[in-house]
Amino acid sequence: MTARSAWRVASISLLGAAVLLLGATAHAADPPKAYLPGITSTDQSPDGCVSCHTGDKTVKKMLDALKHRDMKDMVKSVPEDCKSCHNEEDGLEPMTLIAHSMHYAKGSKSEFVTRHQGSCLHCHAVSTGSGHVTVKSGPKNW
Ligand code: HEC
Ligand code: HEC
Ligand code: HEC
Repeated sequence: MTARSAWRVASISLLGAAVLLLGATAHAADPPKAYLPGITSTDQSPDGCVSCHTGDKTVKKMLDALKHRDMKDMVKSVPEDCKSCHNEEDGLEPMTLIAHSMHYAKGSKSEFVTRHQGSCLHCHAVSTGSGHVTVKSGPKNW
């Protein structure tokens, strides 16, 4: 090996070590990547509840399993029309508490958290311009 090529090998491995070191530092300092459906990634549930709850997991099927009473024809839009019964005047738990507790009660063990990162933005949409936050809604799929 000539002195020159030895120098090149040495400087390349030095560079390699520096890149590795930099990589390791960058890795340690990197915050977790934000998961914000509709903002940092495509929105997998643009219609909220009914986007996720399809097939044998429709909201109706989930509620049947909980022995929910017959909703008759009162629900056309989910979760909007659930509020026709679930409101304070009727003395029933409001949809806010129902929706949140159903998906977060089990904390980090909740399937909503383990499989869907638990993002608020699965059900809520935030307008990056005006800042308005809304609850996504969609026609019932059962
Ligand atoms: C991003 C997907 C997603 C969205 C959006 C979503 N859910 Fe769920 N939901 C889940 C998962 C995951 C579970 C855990 C149970 C399972 O999948 O077996 C669950 C559970 C439920 C359950 C059963 C709770 C229990 O204790 O048995 C009901 C009822 C329910 N969701 C209704 C809703 C309603 C109403 C909305 C809209 C306000 C909604 N979901 C929005 C994914 C979603
Ligand atoms: C016809 C009226 C009516 C409609 C419409 C309705 N609910 Fe209910 N729901 C009830 C009643 C009554 C209860 C029992 C409340 C209780 O036991 O305190 C209940 C209970 C529940 C519970 C169980 C709460 C608990 O802690 O045990 C969930 C979850 C629920 N409803 C979700 C929904 C969702 C989601 C929708 C819309 C898709 C909906 N409901 C539409 C009347 C209704
Ligand atoms: C599974 C669907 C779902 C998820 C996930 C969800 N929300 Fe909600 N949220 C709702 C629904 C449904 C309402 C009631 C809307 C209504 O009454 O019109 C609501 C209402 C609210 C309200 C209004 C409360 C009030 O009493 O008026 C706030 C604030 C809120 N959510 C914050 C959050 C935050 C923060 C997160 C994430 C940590 C979150 N939500 C995740 C469905 C969800």
